[in-house]
Formats: sequence, structure tokens, C-alpha cells
Amino acid sequence: MTQSYRLFVCFLSFAGLAGAQSKHAIGNIFKPLATPAELVADVSLLTLVICGAVFLIVASLLAYAVIRFGYREGDSRSEPPQVYGSNQVEIAWTVIPILIVFALTMATARVTSAIQDQRIPNDAVNVTVIAHQWWWEFRYTDLKFVTAEELHVPLSTMAQPKLTFLTLKSADVAHGFWVPQLAGKTDVIPNRTNHMWIDPKELGIFLGNCSEYCGTQHAKMELRVVVETPEDFARWAAAQQAKAAAPESAENQRAFLSSPCIACHAVSGTRALGRMGPDLTHLMSRQTIAATEVPLNAATLRDWIADPQRLKPGNKMPTIKLSGAQRDQIVAYLTTLH
Ligand code: CUA
Repeated sequence: MTQSYRLFVCFLSFAGLAGAQSKHAIGNIFKPLATPAELVADVSLLTLVICGAVFLIVASLLAYAVIRFGYREGDSRSEPPQVYGSNQVEIAWTVIPILIVFALTMATARVTSAIQDQRIPNDAVNVTVIAHQWWWEFRYTDLKFVTAEELHVPLSTMAQPKLTFLTLKSADVAHGFWVPQLAGKTDVIPNRTNHMWIDPKELGIFLGNCSEYCGTQHAKMELRVVVETPEDFARWAAAQQAKAAAPESAENQRAFLSSPCIACHAVSGTRALGRMGPDLTHLMSRQTIAATEVPLNAATLRDWIADPQRLKPGNKMPTIKLSGAQRDQIVAYLTTLH
């Protein structure tokens, strides 16, 4: 393979990656939609521009030297005259990089402190995010309810700024909380509490992913941030605070409550108090299951319970032996939990 062909293939794969990135749902880091992400994007762009300029200057000088001073037909084969030491050149290549590094350090420190020193107003929405292998739990500490996979937050506008303050904890190993369009990555470390904040400026669903290798299902440990108007957020929160819906069929509820499901899952107001798996109190208010991998409906729920490993291999939900009738009853009960 010739050098230029290799370079061409390299360029094509980069172009492919860039294309895939723009179509991929995870969100473009160069289109920030919250203050922390905007600050990080600005400093990244500055770094990229400076590094790009350095690359262009060095590459052009190198290309010039190769073309201008390369071997030509008729040149003598002996070594050209050698030059030893030049104070001016040495000072230049020491001082210029130091200045560049200093400028980048100052710009980065300014952004880091702006994000870390942000004053958290009293009316901020407080959420404790707990990372599990391999799903996200969201505890709304002030509003007093628990949900999973889909983090709802209110929109922040100039007229009505609204911060969401996140307290990050891990139930097991190290994870990373990352929603590219809203903020930089923050590690989620066992036995340590980290904090971050967001103020999303656009309505919509923003996708995030665990950013620290945490085992088999790391790549599929996704989450969604649902940004709503303050009114919609209040409505959603009120629905989450409500007790679980009264069972339409006592028999279906009994099938669920007498199954091993309740060892890991909770439904508020019942004796299902498990905390190992996602809270199911308002299960059907979510659009997805399995860390947002699978759309949530009666059919996927049934498949999921029948064989969790088939829908999302490696996850920690055990396959429970149930008869077809039991499974139908449990699915019928769960689908009433709006
Ligand atoms: Cu959790 Cu990677």
C-alpha cells in the first residue's frame, strides 16, 4: 500500500466518523445547549484553533524544506555544512510554546472555576443521580420520588432561569455521567460524591452515555434528559409524586407481589420495596426500558421479562421462571402503572 493511498483511507475513515457522529443520536459537542457545555465548547474551540495553527505552520515549513532543499539530480552526495546551536532559535522554540501553554491553562482554569463556583439558587431542582451496573437511577430529593433512565428537567430561559443541580453517586463501580450537549463529563465514583449542574436552554430529549468503562454493558448504559417547560415539568413531577395507580385487577397485582420481582423492584404503596433495580411505581410514564435501549410497551415488557438477556445481553436482571399465565398477569399489572 502506498503512503498516499494509506493517507486517503485514513481521511475517508475520519470523514465517515464525523458523518456518523453528526447523525448519531448522542448529540454534537459543538452544539452546546446549556451554560456548562457552552463554556467547555468555547475553550475546546480555542484549543483546536491554536493547535490547528501550530500544525499548519509546522507542516508548511516542513513541506517547504523537503521540496526546496531535497536531493536533486547532480547534487553532491556528501553531507551539507552542519550548524551547531543558535540562541535565537532555541529561545524562540522555548518561549513561544510556554506562552501558548500558559494562555491555554488560563483559559481552561477560568472555565473550570466558572463552572465549579456557580452559585446554586434555592429554587434549583435537586436530583441525586445513582449510577448502577448498568442503568441510571434519579432521586428527586426535594420532590420526594424516584425514577430511572429518563431525567426530566425544566427549561432555563433568560426570563426564567432554572438550574438543575445533580449529586452524583455510584452503587457499585466507577461510572461517568455525560450528556454532551448539556455539560462536560463528570466521574461517578463509589464512596465519593460529585456534583454538577445544568441549565438546558432548548426543549427536547438529549441523549447521554456512561463515559467510564464499567463492565459488560458500559457502551449501552445510556440515559435521556427530557427538557420540558416549567409547567410540563411540574405536571410530570406531580404525577411521579402520586401513589401507584390502584390495581385494575387485584389478581394481577397479587401475581406481581408474589413473584421474585419485588426482591429488586419497588412500587410505592405496596410491599414491593426492592432497590436493586429501577423503581416501577410509574413505569409506563417512561418511553424506554433497559437503559433506553428498548422502547417500552406491553410486547417489549413481556419479552424483557421472558428473557432479559436476549434484549440486552449481559445485564443483571435474572431470568425468572414464570408460567405464560403468570407472565401475562405481571405484564398486565405493570402496564397499569402510569
Ligand atoms: Cu457505567 Cu460505563
